[in-house]
Amino acid sequence: MRSLSDPKGRKHRKRSGASVEQSTKPDRGFWIVTAILGLISLGGILYFWMIPTVEPWLPPEGGHPGDQVDWLFRFMASSAALLYTYVVGYIIYFAIRFRRRRSDPDDALGVNLHDNPKLEAAWTIVPTLFVILLSVLSIRIWYVLQVQPTNGLVVESIGRQWYFTFRYPDVNGEVTDQMHLPVNVPVTLNLTSGDVIHSFWVPDMRLKEDMIPGIINTIRFTPTRIGTYQIICTEFCGTGHSEMNKQVMVVQPMAAYQKWYHGWQLRNAHVTNALATATLGGKIQLAGGNVAAGKALFNEKCSACHALGPFNQRIVGPGLLGVLHDPSHPNLVNGDLAVPANVAEILQNGYTGSIGHMPNQAQNGLSNKDIANLVAYLNTLK
Ligand code: CUA
Repeated sequence: MRSLSDPKGRKHRKRSGASVEQSTKPDRGFWIVTAILGLISLGGILYFWMIPTVEPWLPPEGGHPGDQVDWLFRFMASSAALLYTYVVGYIIYFAIRFRRRRSDPDDALGVNLHDNPKLEAAWTIVPTLFVILLSVLSIRIWYVLQVQPTNGLVVESIGRQWYFTFRYPDVNGEVTDQMHLPVNVPVTLNLTSGDVIHSFWVPDMRLKEDMIPGIINTIRFTPTRIGTYQIICTEFCGTGHSEMNKQVMVVQPMAAYQKWYHGWQLRNAHVTNALATATLGGKIQLAGGNVAAGKALFNEKCSACHALGPFNQRIVGPGLLGVLHDPSHPNLVNGDLAVPANVAEILQNGYTGSIGHMPNQAQNGLSNKDIANLVAYLNTLK
């Protein structure tokens, strides 16, 4: 290193620390690179819009709104391809174009640019508008999946270690082998779990939703393609998790579906706990309620909102330890006397008041027998 007092050093120092003279005006090289990056990103965009024609990893959509989900995926992936190609491409190009040359001093500064309000406004406004556009497009699909009412079939699926079961209106008990659906009929699918958290995934339908004990998650869709589609659990749920991919969703013409459906009606005719929609209303026969079945049901459907603690130990609703045996709370939240028949009445019709909202029998997917079992169990809590 040269001493500062050295005249040659002074000359060197004068050159160093100054901006290297380089033009920042877009030149021929810049436009050539821009064109090449355009071709590369066009390739990426075409790739995503031609899936699954060119790539088998994304199966064809089996229903609606799976088609909309795919459209959004293509739109987002191709936008990302465009953005990624230009950002990475320009970083590499500029790093080479404005590199320090061998002839430059060690401490030479690069081109210094400050403040470009137009550019800064553009890179703030354009991405903001793009993110808003993505949310609007996403919410439209979310609405179809989660909110839009359907007048079609209501099916319930329950995740269990380590298989899925299904409940249909007017079929007693649970269907244990496959999930059958008629083609082109809207389906409201209520998902819950009997033990731990599972996740219900049908890749062909672009459906994925968690199955949580005590909570009912609902998705709505319409299968439009006849076929057999794998149902996969996609939340680690214990040692048998990887086995939880053996069952299928069979989408078939109405006649074939009805044949299968009647087969299960006959097969399960002797089972008592029919799905709520089939038995909604009517007098609840509390006699013969099964405590063990009620306890299992409580853990599955009630424990997310109700603690097994004193009244004031609230999760969403009040604690239910001693709901029928607490001298300090002789009345239920609706003012009725705390006796089994009145608890059953709340389970059947639900309740809305200052303390909160309790869904009714149909919303909770409870049969009359389920309510009798739950009341029998609640009666043992003190
Ligand atoms: Cu059920 Cu993983």
